[in-house]
Amino acid sequence: MAHGEILAGFLAPHPPHLVYGENPPQNEPKSEGGWEQLRWAYERARKSLDELKPDVLLVHSPHWITQVGHHFLGVPHLSGKSVDPIFPNLFRYTFSLDVDVELAEACCENARKRGLVAKMMRNPKFRVDYGTITTLHMIRPQWDIPIVGISANNSPYYLTTEEGLDEMDSLGKATREAIEATGRRAVLLASNTLCHWHFHEEPALPEDMSQEHPHDYAGYKWDMRMIDLMRQGKTDEVFRLLPQFIEEAFAEVKSGAFTWMFAAMGYPQIPGELHGYGTVIGTGNAVMEWNLVKAGLAGAQRRTAA
Ligand SMILES: [Fe+2]
Repeated sequence: MAHGEILAGFLAPHPPHLVYGENPPQNEPKSEGGWEQLRWAYERARKSLDELKPDVLLVHSPHWITQVGHHFLGVPHLSGKSVDPIFPNLFRYTFSLDVDVELAEACCENARKRGLVAKMMRNPKFRVDYGTITTLHMIRPQWDIPIVGISANNSPYYLTTEEGLDEMDSLGKATREAIEATGRRAVLLASNTLCHWHFHEEPALPEDMSQEHPHDYAGYKWDMRMIDLMRQGKTDEVFRLLPQFIEEAFAEVKSGAFTWMFAAMGYPQIPGELHGYGTVIGTGNAVMEWNLVKAGLAGAQRRTAA
């Protein structure tokens, strides 16, 4: 049986402002631009993804919140309109996407085997959350690669941060086993912002970049400290500091995607490539890539088969 593998993981945050700034035909509100440095960071990430030619994109989103267990999109095709409840003025996006249901079911089954509560989402009219949609649009606007969507179970908020992230570690390992067993060549997307302190009012013109800057200096310094460690490949140190980072910078990585992705990749001690950093209503966002093929940790299967 084919042996699947993870080709790369991306830190791929989901501020809807980035879609708004780009003005794709799917989004109703129109802008004058804005947040260019982050949008151009995503352009670099798109090129890398294109070269990897994955079979599937897996995304874990903090804004598909499930109170009981970890859920997986389980309908072959989903379409509709996704609206950001906080920024409906910026994001009303008509989506149409294909789901790799076989892989999603394998992830779900493996998660159960590891003791997690896990469930397939079978509602054909399900409205996919703006976090999933924004991350996928920004990394692959063509929508021509099937996806697996994974919910954010609220365990890190009900349990301690450490206990909740332990669950995400199990979820990541279950995901990896499913990818290997189903023979998929997969890319993982952790849909997370870093420092999440934000302003509570937006400018009259949301894309007025003269108003955009880090919410506070302490949060900015935390982001730079963590990104610096990631760029050096000091993954162990990143995860040692993660609970303190979450606590002091209100970091959105608390919701689990970042831990899920790294657990699935086996916590590689390889440098992450920073495609770009920028703030959105004051929150810190980095687009980063851990390319396991370039690092010699994946891709051998394909080379020997060629
Ligand atoms: Fe978010």
